[in-house]
Amino acid sequence: MQQPIAVLDSGVGGLTVVREVMRQLPREKIIYFGDTARTPYGPRPAEEVTRFTREIVDYLIQFRPKMIVIACNTATAVALEDIRSRVTIPVVGVIHPGARAANGRTQSGVVGVIGTEGTIRSAAYEHALKGLSPNLEVISLACPRFVPLVEQGNFRSAETYEVVQSSLESLKCRQLDTLILGCTHYPFLADTISEVMGNNVTLINSADETAREISTILHDRNRLARNEALPVHQFFCSGDPRMFKTIAQQWLGEQIELTPVVWQVP
Ligand code: SIN
Repeated sequence: MQQPIAVLDSGVGGLTVVREVMRQLPREKIIYFGDTARTPYGPRPAEEVTRFTREIVDYLIQFRPKMIVIACNTATAVALEDIRSRVTIPVVGVIHPGARAANGRTQSGVVGVIGTEGTIRSAAYEHALKGLSPNLEVISLACPRFVPLVEQGNFRSAETYEVVQSSLESLKCRQLDTLILGCTHYPFLADTISEVMGNNVTLINSADETAREISTILHDRNRLARNEALPVHQFFCSGDPRMFKTIAQQWLGEQIELTPVVWQVP
């Protein structure tokens, strides 16, 4: 049996990582869980996000994954080490890959980070970036209105533009040349964010770098899938399956097999 890679997120955001894994590692089977009944995680206390992340990992373990990918910045920021201490397989988060990509890209040494309140409060990007280059200037901003727009499938509308423009206003007068999309939902809004920030600011989507890290770890452990046939991925969500399926199929460009999960929503 081919062991899958388990990917989790608070909702549809982790699909940005899934698309990149599917592109870079087309033979890998993916089991995805989107906790759409309890999204967003950003405004929730760290203990609650950690509990939710543990619950999802406990659910995904039944599929005997060879790796867990926490494709949610908020959960990575508060629960990555906790999950690593609870399982024996590799656990990959999305913050260090994004920080590495931004550090490699910036010329001015001024890097912006946008994320949820939980991610920004944790200062996880700041620590990761300063760990790579202590002299970087890091400007962090929480954008709590972005995730609900994405979960509603509202990627490109006058309302979306207005929300993105007003949220990013304070960043526009700063000298940053690189902006980390520090939430896996934000790549869905990348066109609008780019329009608002202008051509001189490079957006960093940690999905590419995360997929590369997944590939490196599997390669080093000799665990890359070798099967001839393409895998059939499985998707699970705890909330409205119709919206999840619509967004997933549009983003991934293919039909998906989706199983709604009845989840206790506290
Ligand atoms: C959220 O659920 O608030 C966003 C997930 C993320 O931080 O990537």
